[in-house]
Amino acid sequence: MGKRNILVTGGLGFIGSHTVLCLDAAGYNPIIIDNLHNSRIEVLDALTSLLGYRPTYVQGDVNDTELLQGLFDAHRPEAVIHFAAHKAVGESVENPLMYYHNNLVGLITLLDTMKLKGCSKMVFSSSCTVYGEPESVPVKESTPTRPAASPYGATKQMAEVILKDNAWCEVQCLRYFNPVGAHPTAKIGELPLGVPNNLIPYLTQTVAGIRERLTVYGGDYPTADGTCIRDYIHVMDLAEAHVAAIDRLFSTSKQLDVLPGDPSAGVFEVFNIGTGVGYSVLEVIQAFEAATGKKVNYTVGDRRPGDVVAVWADTDKVNNVLGWSAKRDLTTMMKDAWHWQENC
Ligand code: NAD
Ligand code: UD1
Repeated sequence: MGKRNILVTGGLGFIGSHTVLCLDAAGYNPIIIDNLHNSRIEVLDALTSLLGYRPTYVQGDVNDTELLQGLFDAHRPEAVIHFAAHKAVGESVENPLMYYHNNLVGLITLLDTMKLKGCSKMVFSSSCTVYGEPESVPVKESTPTRPAASPYGATKQMAEVILKDNAWCEVQCLRYFNPVGAHPTAKIGELPLGVPNNLIPYLTQTVAGIRERLTVYGGDYPTADGTCIRDYIHVMDLAEAHVAAIDRLFSTSKQLDVLPGDPSAGVFEVFNIGTGVGYSVLEVIQAFEAATGKKVNYTVGDRRPGDVVAVWADTDKVNNVLGWSAKRDLTTMMKDAWHWQENC
């Protein structure tokens, strides 16, 4: 049997590019579509060098129905991993329509095309942002979601509803915690365009001398050292979780035409993708310094509006049901993030 084709939307982005490598390593054939809104074509060259062949790539937008239909006709993907979305929280507050359009119309266009072409399997990129400020930690998949703090967060919650309602589509919905790090070769990594919003790219750019100083957002939170706690996960572990999810979709296969409209016929599984361990911002800085021997120039400043105090994953379900667990520790995340920054 030939390799199964897997359509990877946003496959030149941060998480998508690492997942392309893991899909190939697991015997799948990744087919990439990306409109380069938040990535560069050089990522394709890096993937080519890492894979030893040039992966199939279509430059285009998931909102382009004609293009998508042609892509499905040409490559007949058996499943889709849908990464393509905008992801900057602040930008989504400034321009909500841009987010609702790209993240939701894009998803609906993709689902329409999948249904038309008989492809019923999807792995979807959701986020721990759907939990908001949780009442208790760690959060389980059954923890109720909270009203979204931003249009970006709202698109992830709405996307989950859309996918659940479309019971013909078998979905593995992965709620990522905080993806960091890079491929160990430093050939691919996170490419924040402009000033980074996220902690690790801001930190590494500060150490590289691109930014003057890192501001720690708030030192008076009700945590042991006063700074916020997150569940940081290495992007390679996260990428491997997608392969586990794709494997599961093929092992629990259902037919596309099972009782349309019957929600009980659908597969909609949610998994937390984190390490299950939370670290404070100051602990991350210390881990970076210990892992790299580099000093981080930082000050503790005001809180950032919208930040939750502490969130990390309960990973029992993903460990036991999906059979996946994170393997790389915080030191590896920091080393790989720095190695990537040095090579940028
Ligand atoms: P990224 O911006 O690096 O990658 C997304 C890719 O999708 C980019 O290459 C971009 O050019 C492409 N894209 C965007 N809109 C497109 C469209 N309409 N058509 C075709 N291509 C399009 O982001 P990432 O960090 O790799 O995130 C991937 C997914 O994971 C996103 O859905 C994001 O919301 C979600 N997510 C990310 C994080 C995180 O911290 N990085 C956390 C939780 C969830
Ligand atoms: C943010 C988004 C989240 C999104 C994720 C991935 C918010 C409120 N949440 O998560 O919805 O899914 O990015 O894009 O924006 N920090 C600093 N200084 C900095 C940057 C960050 O101290 O310069 C702190 C933050 O306060 C936080 C931690 O570092 O405690 C992690 O921040 P960040 O990397 O931005 O991720 P989140 O806010 O967790």
